[in-house]
Amino acid sequence: MYNANETRHLQQETASLLKAPDAIGTKQLEDLRNVLRFHEYRYYILNDPLIADFEYDQLFKALERIEAAHPELRTADSPTQRVAKGLTRDFPSATHLVPMLSLDNSYNSDDLLDFDRKARELSGLSEIEYCVEPKFDGGSISLIYENDMLVRGATRGDGVEGDEITTNVKQIRSLPLSAGFSKYGIEQVEIRGEVLINKENFRQFNEKLIEQGQAPLANPRNAAAGTLRIKDSAEVSRRKLEAFVYHISYVNLLPGAQSPDALDTHAGSLKMLWDLGFRSPQKEKQVFKGIQGVIDYCLSFEQTRDDLPYEIDGMVIKVNSTELQDKMGMTTHHPRWAIAYKFKARQATSILQNVEFQVGRTGSITPVAKIQPVPIGGVTVSSISLFNEDIIKEKDLMIGDTVLVERAGDVIPYIVKSMAELRTGSEKPVVFPGTCPVCSSRLFKEEGEAVWRCINIECPAQVVERMIHFASKDAMDIRGFGDANVRKFYEAGLLKDIPGIYQLDFETIGTWEGFGKKSIDNLKAAIDHSRQQPLHRLVFGLGIRFVGETTAKTLANTVTHLLDLKEFTLEQLQSLEDIGPKVAGSVQHFFSNPQNIAMLEQLEQLGLSLRNNKKDFVSSGNLEGLTFLFTGTLPTLKRSDAEAMAEAKGGKLLSGVSAKLNYLVVGEDAGSKLEKAKKINTVKIISEAEFLKLLEE
Ligand code: IVH
Repeated sequence: MYNANETRHLQQETASLLKAPDAIGTKQLEDLRNVLRFHEYRYYILNDPLIADFEYDQLFKALERIEAAHPELRTADSPTQRVAKGLTRDFPSATHLVPMLSLDNSYNSDDLLDFDRKARELSGLSEIEYCVEPKFDGGSISLIYENDMLVRGATRGDGVEGDEITTNVKQIRSLPLSAGFSKYGIEQVEIRGEVLINKENFRQFNEKLIEQGQAPLANPRNAAAGTLRIKDSAEVSRRKLEAFVYHISYVNLLPGAQSPDALDTHAGSLKMLWDLGFRSPQKEKQVFKGIQGVIDYCLSFEQTRDDLPYEIDGMVIKVNSTELQDKMGMTTHHPRWAIAYKFKARQATSILQNVEFQVGRTGSITPVAKIQPVPIGGVTVSSISLFNEDIIKEKDLMIGDTVLVERAGDVIPYIVKSMAELRTGSEKPVVFPGTCPVCSSRLFKEEGEAVWRCINIECPAQVVERMIHFASKDAMDIRGFGDANVRKFYEAGLLKDIPGIYQLDFETIGTWEGFGKKSIDNLKAAIDHSRQQPLHRLVFGLGIRFVGETTAKTLANTVTHLLDLKEFTLEQLQSLEDIGPKVAGSVQHFFSNPQNIAMLEQLEQLGLSLRNNKKDFVSSGNLEGLTFLFTGTLPTLKRSDAEAMAEAKGGKLLSGVSAKLNYLVVGEDAGSKLEKAKKINTVKIISEAEFLKLLEE
């Protein structure tokens, strides 16, 4: 639709408008609209935005400002007059009972003060009550329940019509398939919410993809939104989506029923949804009279956003009274009674200065983008993994390109795209090496794989990476034995392989600068401690290809002695949970290599146990033999979910406090059970956070 020249022209226009968005005036009105239309096309149609969301918002706001001041200049086809299209043809379409509008955005306390001022003017009140909750960063959905049954789930689509994705929505465990709305006199209800994938599930999912040599998904938001549109519902289920619901857009009462009091306020609706078994932001929301409390809450929530298990990109401020909401009404784009407070952007543009090639512990060659350092969400980003050659091609990256970079929470930064439109002709292609950048051996690529490998297992880079991995937190967890020290010891010739970790010459190291008695003692203690690590950590630490933490647990739990795996046939290995032909082949390959067996025997002689001490670890049941009871309101988990989690890990639930109880997990307003438990010495009283830690162990 836009040719290269037009694209370049519109990009230049964009850059000039963005220099001073507040100064854009009526003269630039048509340019501004054209620029916005262009970016909507890039975003919604091509799925290939050229500017950050924040920049788009700035321009959109400028247009709104000008049109508000000059209503006579507003045109029917102005970008402010419609919601952009975002439909696919893969699913039947579903018309929303009430159009799914967007939210207006704010970025600082002045914007919020402004919102409050307008809200007071509109309502004629001197002070307004607001309800504030997180702005979940996922894919939005709308749900219809009829006669207490979930009958339809749909994506937002263009706001009027979305994709009908009922089967996929039913895979989301946090959405009840039926809920007792009739108790509230409600026959039919349309609810809005957000589908998310939590950071941990996202990390694990990506870890699996990487283990399988596939490119990881970009961020939890894309993963959640994309998953909703997958045709294979079993795959949707595997990705463990979650959903928060936060708005009731439509209610049809049962004949003769009165509107329930719960619907008088937004906070009441959230509570009703929570009581009906939905995950609404019941715990996270807060109600404030006046805007100051709202501002403080938004600012303080921003500080702790990374502590949440899922991504949020801001807060949403809603007028609490639904009567007042109706009075204030909406524009074609957003309700006037709500506004999003967006956290600091985690996207930025930078320049791709170089691509370096790193050798991993399995010999994989990973291209790493070196970009002009740029702060994103409080962290300076200068290095970004590009995973494999295909990604460089897919993203059409050239040295010298302007690139859009995103860093979502705990998620590693990634390059969203290059902006080919801004090229000047001086950019250089990225050339993938033919030989290993460390040992110069020729590189190989297996058929169907995207990753090039150095197959020299003596390659110094691989040897070092294997030791770093062995000592890493999720493997043997040897504190102080990180990247820098492993390299130092290796380069000094004191460390050449994994068993060498247990034979280090501390006398020599003690003479080095920076290695005082205390740090040596700590290092020795950490190495010693690692001898006691459960077998699955050792298996993971060996760095066998395709063997991640989950597979390591399965393997460790299958044998009584690790070397038993030498005798396992491919069929036997494949009969184990989650192990397919590829993983089985890799495990067999590892255990049929005499060098690996010799290394394991040496580790055993050095005091590491290769036995599966069953109580160390049971595959999915590290709580086996332990009893639990939950009391009070937990800060984030629903009681039933927490109980299910304990049971899933082999824990047993008790109904009362007695000497048989191992753990009492307490939340807010815990009552007599807590008092009783305090009197029994053997009962451990723990918080939800401690419980979650226990699950991880
Ligand atoms: S309320 C009329 N509340 O943010 C009600 N939206 O950028 C409008 N979102 O389209 C929505 N968390 O998909 C609302 N707590 C929350 C939200 C939320 C995330 C999404 C929603 C909306 C988008 C606007």
